[in-house]
This record gives sequence, C-alpha cells and structure tokens, in this order.
Amino acid sequence: MKLKQLSIFIITALFLASCGGAESTSEADSSDSTALNTDLILTDSVLLSFAFVGCNRIDRKDTANWAATDSSSANLNVLKRVMHEVMELERQPDLFFFLGDIVLAETNLLRLNSELDHWVKLYNDTAQTGPMSATPAIEVVAVPGNHEMLTYAQYPDDTLHSEFPLAGSTERWMHYMKDFMPTDRDFITGPDSINNQMTFSFVRGNVAFIMMNTDTYNGPSAEYAHGREGLIAYDWITAKTDEYHNDPRIDHIFVMGHKPAYTRSDLDTTLHFDTIHAGFMQSEKLWAQLMEDTVMAMLSAHAHTYSRNQPMGHGTYQVIAGNGGSKNPEFYGYTLVNIMSSGEVQLVSKGFDNDGKHYYDPLSAEEGNMTITRDSTTLIWGENSTSYKATYKE
Ligand SMILES: [Fe+2]
Repeated sequence: MKLKQLSIFIITALFLASCGGAESTSEADSSDSTALNTDLILTDSVLLSFAFVGCNRIDRKDTANWAATDSSSANLNVLKRVMHEVMELERQPDLFFFLGDIVLAETNLLRLNSELDHWVKLYNDTAQTGPMSATPAIEVVAVPGNHEMLTYAQYPDDTLHSEFPLAGSTERWMHYMKDFMPTDRDFITGPDSINNQMTFSFVRGNVAFIMMNTDTYNGPSAEYAHGREGLIAYDWITAKTDEYHNDPRIDHIFVMGHKPAYTRSDLDTTLHFDTIHAGFMQSEKLWAQLMEDTVMAMLSAHAHTYSRNQPMGHGTYQVIAGNGGSKNPEFYGYTLVNIMSSGEVQLVSKGFDNDGKHYYDPLSAEEGNMTITRDSTTLIWGENSTSYKATYKE
C-alpha cells in the first residue's frame, strides 16, 4: 500500500470514528483500540472491480460443429454462461476485458472480417449473451490475440514458424472493435501509429491499465521474409509504466495482453521468450521493467488454462485466464480483481468444470456443474505463500 493510501485510510477511519459513522457501533465508542481496528476492517469497500478472460474461440476442426458455435466461431455455450454469470454477480464489475482469440480466423481477411462481424452481433444480442452489452455502467475493453492478428500458413523457406503477420488485420479489428476501446485512451502517435493502435492505456480511479497488442503488425523485411509475430510496442509500454509509477494519483498498475510472458510446460520462474507461437520476443526485458515500476500484475490468456504466480518469487504477478471457451482447460470461467479502499487488491477466479465434451454441455449446469471459486488471494507485493499452477495447454 502506498503511503498516501494508508494516510487516506487512517484519516477516513478517524473521521468515521469521530463522527460515529454508519459502521460505528457502541463497542467502537469504547476506549478499546481493538474495536477501532474492527471498524477499520468494516469500512473497507470495493473502489473498482474488473473481470477478464481470453480465448473463447472454437477449434479449427469444429467450424461446422453447430452445437458448439455459429458464424462467429465463438464457443457459444461458454461465452453465454460467462457473460450471464458476470451480470448476476452481487456487485457487477466496472470493467470487463476480453483478452484476445475471441474468434478463430487466422487465415485471411475475409474470414477475419466475417467472424468479427458476427462476434460483435452475438455480443450485442442480449437475447443470447445477456444484458452486459446493454449496460453502460460496465465498460467492455478488448485486445486482439494471434487468431485476430496472424495468418496460419506454411512457407517452405521457414520451417520454424507457422504463424505470420496478416496484412490488414489491424484495420479489420479497428473497424469492428473500436467500441471496445475507451474514447479517453492514450495511444501511440508517430510514424508507426497505425500498426500500434491496438496498444493503449487509460486510468479509472486510482488504477492504470495498459493494454498491449502482443502480435503488433510487423510486415515482411530483409530479415524476416514473411514478417514477424510476437512483437509489442515495448518503448511506449514501458514509458507508460514509468509514467504511472511516478504519478501520485495512481496506486495500482495492470498490464494486459493476449500472450503471457512466461510460457510453456510449467508456467514457473523459467522464462522462455522465443516468439514461435508461445510468447513474445521482448518479454524478458518487459518483465524487468514491470518489476521496477511495481506493476501489480500482467494479465493474459493464450494458454487455455488458468494460472497465477510470481515469476520472480515476489512482486509482479502473471495471471493467465485463457479459460474462456477454447479447448482443454480444467475449468471454464472468468477472473475478478477488486480494488479495495484500504489499498488491498483481491483476485478471484471463478469457473465451472470442463465436462469433457470439448465445448461444454450447457445442460451440465442442471446436472450439478456449478460455478465455484477456483482461486482466491490478496495480491501482495511480497512473496505470496500460494500460487495456482496449471498445465500449459493451447
Ligand atoms: Fe492465442
């Protein structure tokens, strides 16, 4: 907790104690200092709450599986259940983030265009996906993943890669998804601003959000004949983490993007920063900067699983919530973060079992497949005594 937060908290508590605030009890009026401490706890409340999830798309072989999807290529049953359940929360989140791979695409612009068009129509169809899209109080923000930014292709001269930048994908995303980007966002200007426009930042209350496109378009060059995937706007992103770190109005910084920094089998403290599908090239130096600027967490998806850890053993957390509907997770669901008035940051992952039917049977809820809390912790900067490990699956 920053010093100013602690000061505000103490002043608020003293004010409530002196005024006999709503939470005060007769016990609190006694000279017992423990009673005052109880009041301090009782006065803690949620300042800001947000939910996030990524990877809702179905798999390539299931494009004609109409029990699983429609022309949007979203996993319909999971998307609907997540969107409905978030709206049924006792305290609805102030923001909801989609962290990429919302559609399958990854072939050509025609397909990307069609699937994004139908995905937005599905999102806005309250009869299917519930009232989220018709609730102005919830700000919905999205960033693209590799399935929106890249093309899956084979080039005989490149035996290492199977995904390459798709020219025009940036424009297609901006055409359909511009309403999922805050109008008051900070964005990248200058000569490469067109390619960088899906990386941006904004502030809500005492929280700063930096949204990264982890597959920023990088076309063919002398070095990479078919372009290069897995690139972020590193200089701008780290200038922003620096700026927010030094801004006394900001108490918490979150960085979000589709691809995680720490990848592969164990999601532990071993950094694998190759760009061959799993991660992004600048992840090692990015992480050092996140730690230096006390970024609370980097939130991501891409791996079809949920996990939470502190790669350095303390400090910045990596949370993966790629359990939004794509194949293989242990459970499907969403993750919530609550910013408390005390300065505490709470993280809760909620989900329902992957019932083994690959895309989840909606009737399984009636058969007892309920949404339960899968992970819950307070995000402290020091070493967290717990983590949530999951097998890395894509
Ligand atoms: Fe992905």
